[in-house]
Amino acid sequence: MAGERLAKGLKELADERVDHRFKALPPDAEGLTVGELAAQRRNLFRDGFTTPVLALSAESVEHNLAVMEAYADRHGLAFAPHGKTCMAPQLFARQLARGAWGITAAVPHQARVYRAYGIQRIFLANEIVDAAALRWLARELDTDPDFRLICYVDSLRGIELMDTTLREAGATRPVDVVIELGAGEGARTGVRTEAECRELADAIAGVDTLRLVGIAGYEGEVPDATPKRVAAWLRRLVALTVELDKAGRFADLDRIVISAGGSAWFDTVAEVFAELPELSAPALKLLRSGAYVSHDDGQYRRVTPFNRIPEEGDLQAAFRLWAQVVSRPTPQQAFLNAGKRDAPHDLDLPRADVVRSGRDGTLRPAAGVSVTGLSDQHIWLATESATALEVGDWVGLGLSHPCTTFDKWQLIPLVEADGTVVDFVRTFF
Ligand SMILES: Cc1ncc(COP(=O)(O)O)c(C=O)c1O
Repeated sequence: MAGERLAKGLKELADERVDHRFKALPPDAEGLTVGELAAQRRNLFRDGFTTPVLALSAESVEHNLAVMEAYADRHGLAFAPHGKTCMAPQLFARQLARGAWGITAAVPHQARVYRAYGIQRIFLANEIVDAAALRWLARELDTDPDFRLICYVDSLRGIELMDTTLREAGATRPVDVVIELGAGEGARTGVRTEAECRELADAIAGVDTLRLVGIAGYEGEVPDATPKRVAAWLRRLVALTVELDKAGRFADLDRIVISAGGSAWFDTVAEVFAELPELSAPALKLLRSGAYVSHDDGQYRRVTPFNRIPEEGDLQAAFRLWAQVVSRPTPQQAFLNAGKRDAPHDLDLPRADVVRSGRDGTLRPAAGVSVTGLSDQHIWLATESATALEVGDWVGLGLSHPCTTFDKWQLIPLVEADGTVVDFVRTFF
């Protein structure tokens, strides 16, 4: 049933019309369906795409999906990749086909997108305190007995808001919740102390609308993170899970949830979660990495755990943004026709990697070409020599931060190494 909904949703995406809504797609493809355009197997550089155009490497995405599936399997981790990174049902389908337990969301709207595509297990890594969203959730749980959503609780007021609204909405099943332990003093959400966690567990036990199923947090927010600090915080998460289990807080569960893990510390998560002793029910050790799916050429290249454990695998940067030189006002300056609208800039500036000649399509390294700034619609380049670039050349840029790359593009060409566009990835932000 859910599988059918996903298959139907993916078919609808393939049947969507290509038109002006989607940046960079060939003007002469207007009116074709996305599926028809993909079947033409056009070349990204020669067959009518307009610049700037973001390319997602088909081979690298496949590689990254396989690597993280294998990593999670090898370490006995269940996987709920964070879907906020890509918000792309086609990629969710591939993550689920590779054994993912479910998909993580940050906010109710994302969960609504997932439900529209029949995602049956959602881990929502936040409190839900929005009454309209809670009413929606109560309806979803009521109408689909196989749907499961787990969300955070980190305050008494949050519990009160959830309970009141769910009761008013006539919720027929309790919402599964995990208590969020904050990642230390000065960290983001999550209660700061174990004592507060106990207090929340008591409050949850006192309402019929919520069911406590485990403990969670996000090690990516450990202040001044080092492997030691991250491991120490994860050990608190494990100890708390053990303590609450001993206290009978997880009675009558099929699985006790313990969840952490983005794309920067999954090695430490695997190591510390392996220390979890046997509980009163089997543990669901849920990893939530999201950025791994495209990886990047900046922040995640620097922080990936595979730098520490190369023997366990590697990830490949899957994005390349192609933009064209539209102005060369001085020998030291050039301007590309992509800007903040097209490229992430919250962590690092894009990096000029390769130049594709506007005359004959030959490729050369972007030697002596550096990005110095971004305007809304321009990338500022400094060039060491007058011959480094000319108007009409294409520049291939490496990017930093998958989340703020995906969200700038609604339909992203999936491109093989030789430039053949084999599909288009639809995003919902
Ligand atoms: C709560 C939570 N879990 C998981 C993730 C996924 O981490 P990453 O983006 O490093 O893959 C994030 C990312 O911000 C997050 O906030």
